[in-house]
Amino acid sequence: MIEVSNLTKYFLTNKAVDDISFTVEKGEILGFLGPNGAGKTTTMRMITGFVPPSKGTAIIGGSDIIKDSLSARKKMGYLPENAPVYPDMTVWGYLNFCSEIRSFARVNYKERVEATIEKCFLAEVKHQTIHTLSKGFKQRVCFAQSILHDPEFLIFDEPTDGLDPNQKHEVRLMILEMSSEKAIILSTHILDEVEAVCSRAIIIADGRIVADDTPANLRAQSPIHGTIALTVVNTDSAGLLARLQNLDGVKSAEILEDNRENIKVRIFPERTGESLSTRVMSFAQENNIQVASIFVEQGRLDNVFRSITRKG
Ligand SMILES: Nc1ncnc2c1ncn2[C@@H]1O[C@H](COP(=O)(O)OP(=O)(O)OP(=O)(O)O)[C@@H](O)[C@H]1O
Ligand SMILES: [Mg+2]
Repeated sequence: MIEVSNLTKYFLTNKAVDDISFTVEKGEILGFLGPNGAGKTTTMRMITGFVPPSKGTAIIGGSDIIKDSLSARKKMGYLPENAPVYPDMTVWGYLNFCSEIRSFARVNYKERVEATIEKCFLAEVKHQTIHTLSKGFKQRVCFAQSILHDPEFLIFDEPTDGLDPNQKHEVRLMILEMSSEKAIILSTHILDEVEAVCSRAIIIADGRIVADDTPANLRAQSPIHGTIALTVVNTDSAGLLARLQNLDGVKSAEILEDNRENIKVRIFPERTGESLSTRVMSFAQENNIQVASIFVEQGRLDNVFRSITRKG
């Protein structure tokens, strides 16, 4: 597993990372979220041994990144921010070079490089010089380099940044497929990505951890979690609101949209955790109100993210 203890980083007087500790077990995909400048990249660079911490350390599968750096780095794959790759090499040449410096060049390296090229959808550009590739392809070359040696621990800094929607989907699938055998940390600004792939999310603000939970539990902190979103057709909205507010178990109700034909209402339950959908459906039937849609709101990660990370 990855054990991060008290990681702290000062750049002169700027405390970019402030006493961060967490662990990631095999099988987990940890999403690293936070506003620009929160300290995600700096934390990842310390975990992967690229910058020395001012305080604290990270232990990767039993190897300390400071005391036993080479052994720790051998077990890790790292996709840095902005995909730094050698521009003058071809894709094939670069990945071969990576396998050489990873010291497995003599053992079935050709098969491994070819398989990784296929897996990362790079076959059509494998003999192309890297600087002639588009941004998304460069990102994929860098992703390929990080998984080439099939490491147990993976650190991805914004792995789907710059990819088109199809490639985003493919890369997420690849990360999910790999996850049962590995411990993975990925940073992202795409909250849908967190929902789609992460088993856990840590939110960082100003260098500190401000939330550490499953995406579902974080969503549940949303003020609209557990409310009913109801859309009805052709009804008097003021009368509807008054009757809904009198309904047993309803704390309050508000009109979200009223364009005469469709009226969207949000209903807040009296007690959190109580589902009102059956009662609201019976109410609609008894009053001959035509329901276009009804669902229980799960809450939204972006609301929670904003309320946790907003300053002041
Ligand atoms: N090499 C450096 N020298 C000086 N300051 C730095 C350096 N690298 C990062 N910082 C500062 O550390 C803080 C955290 O930056 P970091 O890149 O870790 O943020 P981030 O969470 O990855 O942001 P983003 O979402 O924009 O990628 C910022 O204030 C940044 O300016
Ligand atoms: Mg960053």
